[in-house]
Amino acid sequence: MHDASDQASPSRLVEQKTVPALFDKWIGERIPVFLGTNYLSQELPFSNWYRFKEAFSPEIVKQAITEHPVSVETCLDPFSGSGTTALTAQFMGISSVSFEVNPFLADLGRAKVETYDVKEIHAAFDEIMAVAEKLGSASDVFSETWLPETFVEPGKNGKWLFNVDVAHRVLTLRKAISSLPNPAQRRLFRVILGSSLIENSNVTINGKGRRYRNKWQYRSKTGSDLMRTFQMRAAQCFVDIEKFSLKSATVANIELQDIRDQNLCFPKFDVSVFSPPYPNSFDYTDVYNVELWMMGYLKSRENNIELRKKTITSHLQVTRPFSVLAEKPASLMQALFELEKRREHLWDKRITGMLETYFFEMSNLLRRLLTSKKPKGRVWIIVGNSQYAGVEIETGQILAEIAEDMGFSIVMNEVSRKLRTSPQQGGAPKLGESILVLG
Ligand SMILES: C[S@@+](CC[C@H](N)C(=O)[O-])C[C@H]1O[C@@H](n2cnc3c(N)ncnc32)[C@H](O)[C@@H]1O
Repeated sequence: MHDASDQASPSRLVEQKTVPALFDKWIGERIPVFLGTNYLSQELPFSNWYRFKEAFSPEIVKQAITEHPVSVETCLDPFSGSGTTALTAQFMGISSVSFEVNPFLADLGRAKVETYDVKEIHAAFDEIMAVAEKLGSASDVFSETWLPETFVEPGKNGKWLFNVDVAHRVLTLRKAISSLPNPAQRRLFRVILGSSLIENSNVTINGKGRRYRNKWQYRSKTGSDLMRTFQMRAAQCFVDIEKFSLKSATVANIELQDIRDQNLCFPKFDVSVFSPPYPNSFDYTDVYNVELWMMGYLKSRENNIELRKKTITSHLQVTRPFSVLAEKPASLMQALFELEKRREHLWDKRITGMLETYFFEMSNLLRRLLTSKKPKGRVWIIVGNSQYAGVEIETGQILAEIAEDMGFSIVMNEVSRKLRTSPQQGGAPKLGESILVLG
């Protein structure tokens, strides 16, 4: 594999087609120094509605579309996350279909690509405020909701995520939002409230997961703080919606789905741009579960386990059967051989099973993409390597070999930048992130 520098070569950023003015208005004048995940996207309108660290930059989607040899009619993203592919395609006037298994993230993406009547969302906001005010200190909000013990004061072992006044206000607003008759508006305000949570909690979320803040015991956040954040965020979203109202003329479907479901119907697509979970034992259900619980997407422990089981096998948070590829590519064989030699150093003996299953599932996905792509269709994959017991798993290279064996051609296979290793390996900066383009 060609190990490129930390910068995308300037030629990659040359535009071959006219980019719609609406896209330029959204992105402004920035020139990205690399194309990959977690690069300044959170500063853009819509992208800044919720801090999703694993989002990639819209420029990678733009590049996939503008460099495509024929004109692009349909884009596909099997792992929508915060909805970057759908949103970018929409800004470029191209229809898209995306899938996402996490219901809060699916709603986040849908809320961004939805069409709204600005006057009506202002009225809906006033309605929420009025209903929340009426509900006031109604005490039954807690009795109607089951939350893990650690979530609300007094918590567990002297620790909790939300002071009771904040949690009460969240649940009251949730109730007020659910009284809105319009489902798209309900979704928008659920997303806004969901995005207001972490700031008013005692924890932060970063690449290593959830952490209690320094001196969190002295934070004393209240329901009024939560209310202020909710109002500010709503105001920001309304500005974006109004400023870019023209974009939503283009269809962007985001479906709540486990991509591994064999009954799922993939559309015929020109370009598929996506970033799957990396096989680094990082469970998104876990890291982004504050919103899932507090906004009522999860109602019981069983719901939580069920959702974890629906995610790609890139982590070991739930026990599930492992699968193996009948024909393994050389780079995967080599990695498994090295891991076997260092077996006693693995922090969990199931890691090799997890990796085999990850590539088995990704191989199934690639096969379906191969049959769903149009004759000149291309698949752009942004994926990171991982490391266990000192053995680097070259995810991009392994996927490239699997893809080539099944009939894809390799248009590009580059390591775009070095990532940190996952928390389990101490977070040292040294792993590659690949951009793989299949034709
Ligand atoms: C790396 S993120 C995608 C980020 C996205 N490109 C963006 O810019 O926001 C991977 C996503 O895949 C989702 N996912 C994991 N397993 C899935 C499955 N079986 N089906 C569909 N989505 C899944 C995760 O919930 C996560 O949101």
